[in-house]
Amino acid sequence: MIASEKKFDVCVIGELNVDIILNDIGNLPQVGKELMAGYMEVTLGSSSAIFASNLSALGTSVAFIGKIGEDNFARVVIDSLSARNVDTSRIISSAKLNTGATIVLVYDQDRANITYPGAMYDFKIADIDFNFLSRAKHMHFATCFMQPGIKKDLPSLFSRARELGLTTSLDTQWDPDEKWDLPLDQLLPNVDIFLPNMQEFKYLTHSNSLGEGIEKIRDHANLIVVKNGNDGAYGWDGTHIVHQPAFINNNVIDTVGAGDSFDAGFIRDFIGGKPFLKCLETGALAGALNTTMAGGTGAFRDPETINKLSIDRFGRPLV
Ligand SMILES: Nc1ncnc2c1ncn2[C@@H]1O[C@H](COP(=O)(O)OP(=O)(O)O)[C@@H](O)[C@H]1O
Ligand SMILES: [Mg+2]
Repeated sequence: MIASEKKFDVCVIGELNVDIILNDIGNLPQVGKELMAGYMEVTLGSSSAIFASNLSALGTSVAFIGKIGEDNFARVVIDSLSARNVDTSRIISSAKLNTGATIVLVYDQDRANITYPGAMYDFKIADIDFNFLSRAKHMHFATCFMQPGIKKDLPSLFSRARELGLTTSLDTQWDPDEKWDLPLDQLLPNVDIFLPNMQEFKYLTHSNSLGEGIEKIRDHANLIVVKNGNDGAYGWDGTHIVHQPAFINNNVIDTVGAGDSFDAGFIRDFIGGKPFLKCLETGALAGALNTTMAGGTGAFRDPETINKLSIDRFGRPLV
């Protein structure tokens, strides 16, 4: 298939769930007692979905392949992605499964989360329509450790995507079991951009520093981007490490989804053929913008609103 026949810029494969955010709980819960929350939000959760939603809001055409139940939370997921023009036609729903949910308890500026993975746990490579995937230019996959059915076949998923002519990116996210067992030597040759955060990177490479980790995987890896909160991000282009400082935000509302928004900004420029340094800068701007509003998608509505906010807060447009 030649590039002009490609229907989508990016196909995201990953986990889907809702966040039930309970704010102002005043205290930590105790067994046998009851607390009241000041207010509640039910929103689109999951790293992959926040990435897809925000990338689409930036004007990139995005499709999603994932798995949900046939319940009210499934409707929240589909409605939220559809509202940002993400193609949801290949999201599989099963009446036998529940859509995943995370209960987020916001307490004293921090959060305690409990996740029920639901359908994402059952998602497997056989669920993926590779003919549909081949209609995208780029595949992004996130959150392998919460999707065991896909994780075991991850090297094969990435090599098939490459064979179909797609470029690829991977954001592993956190391993709740803290085993960090990913065959990077098999996987990374078919990953164009590897996008963990600093802590994840050190665990995944069993290293104490960025430099040590890069030395360990440089023979297998292509581009490496390591996100590091308000320190910004580090990029490896095959020969050098570069540092992209964060854009300063003196009024951070929360950092939920900052890494996913960074990924969205970076990938938007990468598929647009922009140089590596420019992709890093756009990623950092998108990550910083994410922190100006509540939740992972609040700052990413449509290109016009995004630009207005970005110019207002950081003196430059994002779109
Ligand atoms: N407090 C902040 N101020 C400005 N930019 C931030 C802030 N926190 C995160 N970012 C930007 O978002 C990116 C991703 O955030 P990070 O927390 O490292 O990722 P993750 O959410 O995956 O842990 C960072 O590399 C940085 O560019
Ligand atoms: Mg992350």
